Amino acid sequence: MKRTIRANFDESAGTYAAYEAETDHFSTLAERLATELATQYDGTITRLLDAGAGTGASSSPLAARSERVIPLDVSRQMLRQNSFPCRVQGDFDTLPFQTGSFDAVAFTASLFLTPSPEAALEEARRVLSEEGVVGAVAPEGWYIDGTSVFEQVDRDSRSPSPTEAVSKAFEETVDTVSGVWRLDVTGEQLRQFYQIPAVAARVYPRLDPQERVERVQDLLADVEGTGEQRWRWIVGR
Ligand SMILES: C[S@@+](CC[C@H](N)C(=O)[O-])C[C@H]1O[C@@H](n2cnc3c(N)ncnc32)[C@H](O)[C@@H]1O
Repeated sequence: MKRTIRANFDESAGTYAAYEAETDHFSTLAERLATELATQYDGTITRLLDAGAGTGASSSPLAARSERVIPLDVSRQMLRQNSFPCRVQGDFDTLPFQTGSFDAVAFTASLFLTPSPEAALEEARRVLSEEGVVGAVAPEGWYIDGTSVFEQVDRDSRSPSPTEAVSKAFEETVDTVSGVWRLDVTGEQLRQFYQIPAVAARVYPRLDPQERVERVQDLLADVEGTGEQRWRWIVGR
């Protein structure tokens, strides 16, 4: 499954960057997560690991709250768009860092993409200092006019690890605080989000990238109006 996730994101760097340039959704999530991490950490965050950094939408807001950010991602193509100098290609489950190297690890919209959030969190804990903090943001769905979009059009939409599994892994590993953030969205933004092949793979995982994007666009063609994207945030230490 991980090889597929990586291939999907390698296909997605351009459309992902275009969606973010239009919406600022991921940088907004990272900014809020950075604030929660700073609240939970006792002191100044010196070294922070941006785990699943992608094109860098999360790296800049995280850098505003710490002295040094190291972006890590499994997808070479996503990382190529990330302008941070010390970016590292790697996997959550086998981080290429020494024990106790970071004060904080942030998974902005990335931990739910791994089949074992438990393994990733154990590894995050290994690279954290004793007082270190770890945080994640995971999707709770898209709501237009108060109704879940995928309840209407497709009940099989799923992530490799549901948000409940991410929350459970946190609760079993660290002391946690959690909540839900809501971002304003339009039907047009929903369609743009599902132009990202890695995102469309949640609905039609077996189709090739172009076909799956076309099928989701058909599925969402009639969604109009305004609504919200809901994201669960979780921070633990
Ligand atoms: C939805 S993007 C989020 C990127 C960035 N954090 C942001 O907020 O824009 C998720 C990223 O997680 C990466 N990813 C998924 N599974 C991973 C794994 N096991 N190890 C490292 N990176 C992973 C993907 O390649 C992708 O770039």
